Amino acid sequence: MQHSRRDLFHMAASALAFAAGAGGAAFPAMAQTGLKDAARAKGIEVGSAFNGWFHPPLLRLLIENCDVITPENAMKAGNISSDDGRTLLPGEMDDIAAFCLQNGMKLHGHTLFWHQSLPAWLGAGDLDEARQAHLRHLRFVMTRYPQVTSWDVVNEVVSNETGAYRSLPVLDAHGDAFVAFLFETARELAPTARLVLNDYNLACGAAFCDRKRGRLLSVLERLLRAGVPIDAVGIQAHLAPRWPVVPAPLEAFLREAGDLGLDVLITELDVNDIDLPDDIAARDQSIARIYGDFLDTALASRTVKRVSFWGLTDRYHWIVEGHAPFRRTGAAPRPALFDQELRPKPAYFAVRDALLRAPERTSGG
Ligand code: G3I
Repeated sequence: MQHSRRDLFHMAASALAFAAGAGGAAFPAMAQTGLKDAARAKGIEVGSAFNGWFHPPLLRLLIENCDVITPENAMKAGNISSDDGRTLLPGEMDDIAAFCLQNGMKLHGHTLFWHQSLPAWLGAGDLDEARQAHLRHLRFVMTRYPQVTSWDVVNEVVSNETGAYRSLPVLDAHGDAFVAFLFETARELAPTARLVLNDYNLACGAAFCDRKRGRLLSVLERLLRAGVPIDAVGIQAHLAPRWPVVPAPLEAFLREAGDLGLDVLITELDVNDIDLPDDIAARDQSIARIYGDFLDTALASRTVKRVSFWGLTDRYHWIVEGHAPFRRTGAAPRPALFDQELRPKPAYFAVRDALLRAPERTSGG
């Protein structure tokens, strides 16, 4: 019998409650120190996306390693509301929120506006219509989950091709006015949450990443100058050996973001091992080096306050599930810190060591 995600949640929740109630730890402590313990001393938060599969061994890894959880898909507009936006479908998101609450983990809200999850009722071109629809949506999501510590208010709104916003009816017509409306509404609904503008193609050293970083900084400067309440920029950091990170331009971007008064969150870190050989030992070492080198560069900047992975394990990962646009041929991808059997890989230790090497941030990380 195939258990639904919700069945698994309730089974795991009762197992957790039983174990805790019986005086035992919900899960026996893991052999190695969790990443969040290695990071805490440096004022860095550690997080991960969570896809809502409440399998106890996965839950244990999340609890042991993460301060903050990002719902991978459950909070996206197209998943949490019906197609007409009139019926709320928060079931899975409620379960994830309950899991975080039960285990003392924060929630990162992903995401209030994203072109890939923009039901027709949200994407109206008329500004008033779009504002009303988004106001209803933000009110629902942000008041249902007041515990959310930070929000991806907008995700991937800056164009990869031009200096403007991504071409969507509401952005083509209203650009800054609409983006400002989303941030101002989010600030009003969640005054203490960190508000994030999240995007990708910001980490690598290729020319298209250089262009994207410059464009994003221009948009941020313009919005901040207009008084739009943005607290942080999210660098998704979906890395791949095909587009290696070059320290200098990334360091410059982090410096400029800090000069704008912004924090930087690494929001969706993973390594797509396309182009790497099938040999597991060699591939795992290459992936570990990519994680470690990236974090050494990123965490050298005290502006970076959080490192979130887009999934901790190969068993539950969008790249392994085949949702990534670039797919390796040959052996299955191994993008994450833990393998299919949820055992730590060289990448886990490379990340832990990078966290231990990182300079300390000021408090409030
Ligand atoms: O749940 C259905 C399942 O019932 C069905 O059998 C299966 C068929 O393929 O699809 C499943 O839904 C998939 C869903 O992930 C859950 O696995 C959707 O097709 C698939 O499109 C969806 O992909 C997600 C993608 O965003 C699009 O929403 C990925 O899991 C998720 O990792 C990815 O995450 C995005 C961030 O939100 C934003 N930044 C980029 C990142 C990667 O694209």
